[in-house]
Amino acid sequence: MQNLAWVEGVFLDINEAKVPLEDRGYLFGDGVYEVARIYNSRPFKLGPHLERLQRSAAAIRINLTYSVVEIENAVSRLIDKSGCTDGYVYIQLTRGSAQRDHLFPADVRPSMIMYVRESKVLPALEDVKAVRSITLPDERWFNCHIKSINLLPNLLARQQAAEAGAQEAILYRPGDLVTEGTRSNVFAVIDGIVRTHPQSKLILSGITRGIVLDIMAEQGVVFAEEAFTLQELSKASEVWITSSMMEVNPVGVIDEKPLKGAAPGEITHCLMEKFRVKVTAECY
Ligand code: PDD
Repeated sequence: MQNLAWVEGVFLDINEAKVPLEDRGYLFGDGVYEVARIYNSRPFKLGPHLERLQRSAAAIRINLTYSVVEIENAVSRLIDKSGCTDGYVYIQLTRGSAQRDHLFPADVRPSMIMYVRESKVLPALEDVKAVRSITLPDERWFNCHIKSINLLPNLLARQQAAEAGAQEAILYRPGDLVTEGTRSNVFAVIDGIVRTHPQSKLILSGITRGIVLDIMAEQGVVFAEEAFTLQELSKASEVWITSSMMEVNPVGVIDEKPLKGAAPGEITHCLMEKFRVKVTAECY
């Protein structure tokens, strides 16, 4: 396949696509983005991703210059033209390009780019490896519900995790309340009840998180959208993280301590399986 980009309606090889030097995304991180996974040449849950893109754009007062249908069509053409079967589509919207000024420039036209990249086919469920994680203070701002391209605190935490031999950092706010991962939402089974941070400005409301909540409701799994502390996390019987790129991924180790039970545990395994059923229903 060819990794292809779409820049304001023009299709280009990803290595030839360029953005202007004064694009405010580049200068200020003044923009928002989305990542949707592609399975079998079809984007999964593109509708909910685009709704979130609209919400993020509205929250930072950028007008979407394309309709949802236009974006959906561009994504399908990008996937077709690139020949991508398994990968992801990245969509980014910035306030546009103008002389550098902190104020929003008058009459600037927002700039939209997207591209597809191939990624490894996800392993069969029995081959999914539990991730190692560390816990770190959540040093982000208080508008984490906006999928902003400003990801420095996430990058620093993810790097610190990697340097400690972990694949994800689980973040907590004062009061030791767990919010989410650097690029995932976090769930834990505490005293037999699945808990995850409620939707608020402190977390990104993940599309995968929403699907997992739906599956739990369908399966009669007892859950509560209620924050939990680091101490509660340390006694959880199962922990998993969710994201479009990682689906439902068990966590096996937190701060070098292996979880008491198996990873994946029974509930995690059930969710991993039912999530794949939803993917198959939509994309195969
Ligand atoms: N990240 N929380 C954060 C901070 C995230 O960056 C992400 C996704 C999620 C999960 O959201 P979803 O289920 O909608 O993918 C939660 C994407 C994949 C990324 O930045 O690459």
